Amino acid sequence: MLLEIQNLTKRFGGLTAVSNVSFGIERGEIIGIFGPNGSGKTTTLSLIAGILKPTSGAILWKGRDISTLTPFEVAQQGLVKTFQNPQLFPELTVVEHMRIACHLHIKRALGLGRLRTLFGGLPADLEQTLSRKIDEMLELCRLKGQRNDEAGALSYGGEKMLGVAMGMVCDPELLLLDEPASGLGHDEITNLDAVLRDLKSHGVTLCIIDHKVGFLGRLADRSIALHHGAVIATGTTADVLANDAVIAAYLGKKHA
Ligand SMILES: Nc1ncnc2c1ncn2[C@@H]1O[C@H](COP(=O)(O)OP(=O)(O)OP(=O)(O)O)[C@@H](O)[C@H]1O
Ligand SMILES: [Mg+2]
Repeated sequence: MLLEIQNLTKRFGGLTAVSNVSFGIERGEIIGIFGPNGSGKTTTLSLIAGILKPTSGAILWKGRDISTLTPFEVAQQGLVKTFQNPQLFPELTVVEHMRIACHLHIKRALGLGRLRTLFGGLPADLEQTLSRKIDEMLELCRLKGQRNDEAGALSYGGEKMLGVAMGMVCDPELLLLDEPASGLGHDEITNLDAVLRDLKSHGVTLCIIDHKVGFLGRLADRSIALHHGAVIATGTTADVLANDAVIAAYLGKKHA
């Protein structure tokens, strides 16, 4: 098992946002996470990515508990999360954002020696490697034509895709995507669908939150449904979406 979550709980004061959640992710899978607003989806992924610390429970990455690591240390292990609303710098270009996201590579390659690059720039071989990697990820995420556009000029779909490209440039083994399809139009969703399938064929394991039942229903091999912070169904995506408790959580008991 690549990732194993055991009895994960997160309380904010009196509110239990994630309650005793357990599930696993195998290498190469696409896992979907469903659930109505406020059901604990983002909190679960933020706990996995080290952005929040669990109240209790374990997060095992290749068998080792990573629940005390910082987000940077978690990313270094190969586990990267994108954000529900990417916070971009409107006046920086697409490629400049990609350079910022390369920090992990630069730190890994140069350690403290990277401080010298403030004056002299990056060593030529590292510069070349990063440029190649950035071009590859922009191509994969269909952003090559916009590489020199300012982030402020991107459509919402373009912004979200840049968030995915920035995550991908960190070389994740597991990419956690928080509602990549929300707010996108039909064509942008078709594009996202193709990009995510390409990421999978690149060998990346994906865990995707979404409300769009059709979109994630087509994409995810297996799914987990959350309600009030707890797991109410797991299994193949088709079974989870047909589950009475899941339908009731989304539409109310009458419809189930
Ligand atoms: N930092 C926080 N402090 C206090 N409460 C929080 C915090 N983050 C989330 N919550 C609460 O925890 C619950 C779960 O929130 P979470 O953001 O995980 O839901 P979600 O399933 O991602 O919802 P959405 O579909 O709206 O994005 C909600 O009741 C939310 O208000
Ligand atoms: Mg959320």
